[in-house]
Amino acid sequence: MIRAEEIIRRKRDGGTLSEAEIAGLVAGYTAGEIPDYQLSAWLMAVYFRGLDGVETRALTRAMLHSGRVLALPPGAPVADKHSTGGVGDKTSLIIAPLAACCGIRVPMISGRGLGHTGGTLDKLESIPGFRTRLSLGEFEAVLERLGCAMIGQTEEIAPADRKLYALRDVTATVESLPLITASILSKKLAEGLDALLLDVKFGDGAFMQAYDDARALALSMLGIAREMGVRAEALLTDMEQPLGEMVGNALEVEECLAIMRGDALTEAQSALRELALELTARMVALARQAGGGPAAAALEPARAECQRHLAAGAAMERFQAMAEAQGAEPGCLESPARLPRARHESLLAAPRAGYVRAARARALGTAAMLLGAGRRQLSDAIDPAAGLRLQARLGDWVEAGAPLCTFYYNLPERLDAARALALSAFELGGSPPEARRLVREVLGS
Ligand code: URA
Repeated sequence: MIRAEEIIRRKRDGGTLSEAEIAGLVAGYTAGEIPDYQLSAWLMAVYFRGLDGVETRALTRAMLHSGRVLALPPGAPVADKHSTGGVGDKTSLIIAPLAACCGIRVPMISGRGLGHTGGTLDKLESIPGFRTRLSLGEFEAVLERLGCAMIGQTEEIAPADRKLYALRDVTATVESLPLITASILSKKLAEGLDALLLDVKFGDGAFMQAYDDARALALSMLGIAREMGVRAEALLTDMEQPLGEMVGNALEVEECLAIMRGDALTEAQSALRELALELTARMVALARQAGGGPAAAALEPARAECQRHLAAGAAMERFQAMAEAQGAEPGCLESPARLPRARHESLLAAPRAGYVRAARARALGTAAMLLGAGRRQLSDAIDPAAGLRLQARLGDWVEAGAPLCTFYYNLPERLDAARALALSAFELGGSPPEARRLVREVLGS
């Protein structure tokens, strides 16, 4: 039995812990043998003193092995993408089926939205009948048949993270680089991956708003993933304004379907399509390298292949097949009318003319949450139809009275608060802001 107080004291005083000590702490806490008060003290010591690379890897490994690690039968390379989250961030819905079309297996285990950010699971659950709670056996069967499957966190995957995250949440210890690294990687690496693509967001709506903080998180995750034998790359992408036009669950599903069907797209939707293509191509290339393919030659062919599959409607077909294999009502993706639709809509007009100098993602995401698209706490119910469509983007010129965004809602009593918040997200001025690139940097290639 490890002596928790000794481990806490050493970390408090800036010392280093052994792999066995960290493994013992995580195992003891997960089994309920070490109480919350001792783990809380340890977390706070880590918050202030940090963990070095070896300790972070030990923590990741201990959390990863606190539950099941998928062991898929031999076959195509296994890869996934993780995004640190944001507003309107819906690329997973395109990436999983598109990468599967390229012959990669994508066992995607995703999370729910919280606060201003959306979650892939909530988006999927807005599709009538779609089940995100599959047994691991069912998950593996869909994956083997279609090359992709998308579910939520299960009790069996990294249970230590669930317990530790809940404790971090109430002890002000979430914002710690090594703890975030171990938390994210323990869940993703439990998918038994060969390759992992990280989409690390920065900007107003991101978990790590400052570019340097996001970059440090990307480097930390890249280092540990690689040390654990997983090929990894990170893209630092802009989350200053929402991604695409739609914010809200069924609205975002429909936006992805429009992209996968090949509909005419607005500029914002084209940017979303480009980002989804780039993320998929990089993930496919990484997976092929991990599977023994050539390193340098992989990206361009993967880009061309992804373009081809997306343009041919293959990703759409694969998404539809996956959705139906996971319980979606047959044919329900063929018409937007079959997705949940809000009873009311209302326009937010520009109070004066000007260039859009800010369309802050955090306030816009929170406005959508107020309308029912998101939750303040994980136990809140959401309205799959609620949300907003962004009609003015950074750098656009708008006339007075022109639409900034449209709200979709079923709760009229929340509209005034959502309007006020959304209005505060926009800044209109006499000159355009500096142009921002969606992909700022690629690390690790
Ligand atoms: N997301 C996670 O999954 N874990 C963290 O610690 C922070 C964000």
